[in-house]
Amino acid sequence: MDVRPAEEQEIDQLANIWYQGWLDAHDQIVPAELKRIRTRESFGPRLKALLSSVRVAGPPGAPLGLCIVKDDELYQLYVSAEARGSGVAAALISDAEALLAEAGYETAWLACAIGNDRAARFYEKCGWRRVGNMINHLEIESGVFDLEVWRYEKALPRRQ
Ligand SMILES: CC(C)(COP(=O)(O)OP(=O)(O)OC[C@H]1O[C@@H](n2cnc3c(N)ncnc32)[C@H](O)[C@@H]1OP(=O)(O)O)[C@@H](O)C(=O)NCCC(=O)NCCS
Repeated sequence: MDVRPAEEQEIDQLANIWYQGWLDAHDQIVPAELKRIRTRESFGPRLKALLSSVRVAGPPGAPLGLCIVKDDELYQLYVSAEARGSGVAAALISDAEALLAEAGYETAWLACAIGNDRAARFYEKCGWRRVGNMINHLEIESGVFDLEVWRYEKALPRRQ
């Protein structure tokens, strides 16, 4: 499964994948206030702003999942419901890890909502280790929303 940069024409499809995946994973486990903030409409502008760092799996015009890295953070990873369990997520995370290693980071980290057990199992399967809880400062339109999360880390191969 090839992983490639996102195309501008895919923003709407990718925003759907992100929003639907966010709901699937978080609806039952995050505070009601955060659910009110994360509307479908809020995902398009966030994606547009991040477009140059969005990596995608799936044919052009028919994306199956997306991944975004930010500095040393694996910032977002979302796969469409149909593509879960198919290896798409593994392709995206391995591309992200390669980018992080290539950028010179020795350790990468990510935040996972407490209780997102499927994602946690996936990260552990990929060699990430839960190192504890942390307060994540989520970006929202009016500033930040603080949420306690599980912090995962992974040591990356040294750049040659
Ligand atoms: C997280 C995500 C990218 C993982 O991709 P995936 O294709 O579902 O991952 P896989 O199917 O390879 O692995 C998931 C593992 O969790 C297991 N699993 C499924 N449901 C589970 C549950 N409710 N609790 C615990 N484990 C669960 C699966 O059996 C599988 O483990 P196995 O391979 O040992 O059987 C994908 O599920 C997704 O997009 N989820 C919604 C968005 C999300 O949570 N993103 C991450 C935000 S931190």
